[in-house]
Amino acid sequence: GKWFSQSESLKGKKVLITTGGTIERLDPVRYLTNDSSGKMGFAIAEAALNRGAEVTVIAARIQGNPPAGMNVIRVESAEQMLQEVLARFDNMDIVIKAAAVADYRPAARAGSKMKKTDERLVIELERTTDILQTLGERKTAQFLVGFAAETEQVEHYAMNKLKRKNCDLVVANDVSQEGAGFNGNTNIVQIFGEEGRIDAWPMLLKSEVADRLLSLITERLRGKEA
Ligand code: CTP
Ligand code: CA
Repeated sequence: GKWFSQSESLKGKKVLITTGGTIERLDPVRYLTNDSSGKMGFAIAEAALNRGAEVTVIAARIQGNPPAGMNVIRVESAEQMLQEVLARFDNMDIVIKAAAVADYRPAARAGSKMKKTDERLVIELERTTDILQTLGERKTAQFLVGFAAETEQVEHYAMNKLKRKNCDLVVANDVSQEGAGFNGNTNIVQIFGEEGRIDAWPMLLKSEVADRLLSLITERLRGKEA
């Protein structure tokens, strides 16, 4: 792998990354999920491992298998992800929430397979807990990074999320653009901090986005520690 100078290294740092799309079950054989592949989160995990960090990944539904040699905890639902994240949060130096967490789940989960009738079916959904916001309220010294998937007014919504969820950085992607977002190997992101927009990167491989993001996090972490 690439060589990192001491100032760019994350040796001794504990990094927690969430990735993938959560699954919210309706009955034993049916669920709601989303298009997230988990690729962005795993790219960040690889980049953090390359820098010598101690990496834990909490992964919901993903495309394919997680890369070998990683400490991966598998979950399904937003609630399970919340519990696994909370169990580890206090010990972490850096937490990066790349997961696509469901905003809603079925209000009731049938114990046996639902049977069809001739009537139309209405499914009631209830809100899930916002994991990132919960972490933002609880954070002490952790460096907290959120993602924001937007289709319009990217800066406005990303800055709202940064403030509401008490994040140190927000990585925003305009998912309406070709080459950005959930499924491919590339992403187009803008990075926001307390001071507003810090950077807008061109279309890059997710591995390159991950590497640049970790450089920025490392730089800011040193600034906070200094
Ligand atoms: N997130 C979370 N828990 C949720 C929903 C979202 O931790 N229940 C996190 C995501 O992992 C991401 C960030 O919040 O890091 C932003 O997610 P996004 O869906 O873009 O924003 P929301 O706050 O859910 O707002 P909306 O979907 O309405 O734009
Ligand atoms: Ca959402």
